[in-house]
Amino acid sequence: MSEVSIDIHRDGTEVTESLRRDVREGLSARPKWLPSKWFYDATGSELFDRITTLPEYYPTRAEREILARRATEITATSGMRTLVELGSGSSEKTRLLLAAGTAHGTLREFVPLDVSSSALSASARAVAAEYPRVAVHGVVGDFTAHLETLPGSAPRLVAFLGGTIGNLVPAERAKFLASVRAVLGSGEWLLLGTDLVKDTDTLLHAYDDSRGVTAEFNRNVLRVVNTHLGADFDPSAFDHVAHWDDCREWIEMRLAARRPMTVSIPDADLTVRFERGEYVRTEISAKFRPEGVRAELADAGFAVRRWWTDRKGRFGVCLAQVRD
Ligand code: SAH
Ligand code: AVI
Repeated sequence: MSEVSIDIHRDGTEVTESLRRDVREGLSARPKWLPSKWFYDATGSELFDRITTLPEYYPTRAEREILARRATEITATSGMRTLVELGSGSSEKTRLLLAAGTAHGTLREFVPLDVSSSALSASARAVAAEYPRVAVHGVVGDFTAHLETLPGSAPRLVAFLGGTIGNLVPAERAKFLASVRAVLGSGEWLLLGTDLVKDTDTLLHAYDDSRGVTAEFNRNVLRVVNTHLGADFDPSAFDHVAHWDDCREWIEMRLAARRPMTVSIPDADLTVRFERGEYVRTEISAKFRPEGVRAELADAGFAVRRWWTDRKGRFGVCLAQVRD
């Protein structure tokens, strides 16, 4: 087992304070919304892992196919000494990069960062046991807020996989990419996974599976608000809705009230009224076109060096480098 250390960027009080602010803002807005990062307590992380195994949820399999074919090329091109992974979750597909990096002989350190402390500590320990020559330095933190510094020696490769960039709206994406650019030095690397625009049926099934796992994942955000802020949401009183927004080319996940109700959220000093059918937007999952990905990366100061898709063209992974 290699050396493992875990930095915690937010303690329980900061988490509750930040959730309180988001709940006050989002549930007072019209339409109501909540940031998708609040899905991921221990239960939410487990539900996400189940989603990745569903027949309808193609992104994980498609991205794994690309990484399996390209991990050696990614390692050789970047010469990475440090692999940073943002929103690392279980780091399951990342094993392909860890294996290629150790075989190539350059990789020394792995830095997974995630808001979910349970997912982070489990995967950090598992990776340390599986790759004894790679030091593991986990970070529990928010990739939209805690990127001022990233540990590890250059050249670093920052992996942002799974299409998680699509869970940010365009302005958040621009800010996020600029912050990644700001912490990297000249010549360092970003490996970005993006889900691609495709037929609406495939997309809607991926976000509304027949076993109802995505519905439970969606409702989990209400349980998180109940647990941290003493709210009395009845998750079973909300329908899971997956909606495709054709103009903005994103899936919107919503929770729609089955009946009129009043929800009390004492630790946010808030009482929220729902009409029948009124919804909370809980996530957007943007789908991309190759030219859009290139343009967003160029705006942030990255040049795309490689672009790959899976054989069915459902998902894209691009290897980008900080431009001088
Ligand atoms: N990268 C993995 C997991 C994707 S799920 C994969 O490709 O399968 C999204 C992950 O990002 C979850 O583990 C979640 O806890 C984490 N996450 C979501 N929002 C985050 C944020 N703002 N900061 C850090 N981690 C975040
Ligand atoms: C983490 N993220 C990329 C997933 C997605 O597809 O947008 C989260 C998810 N939401 C519903 N299913 C999976």
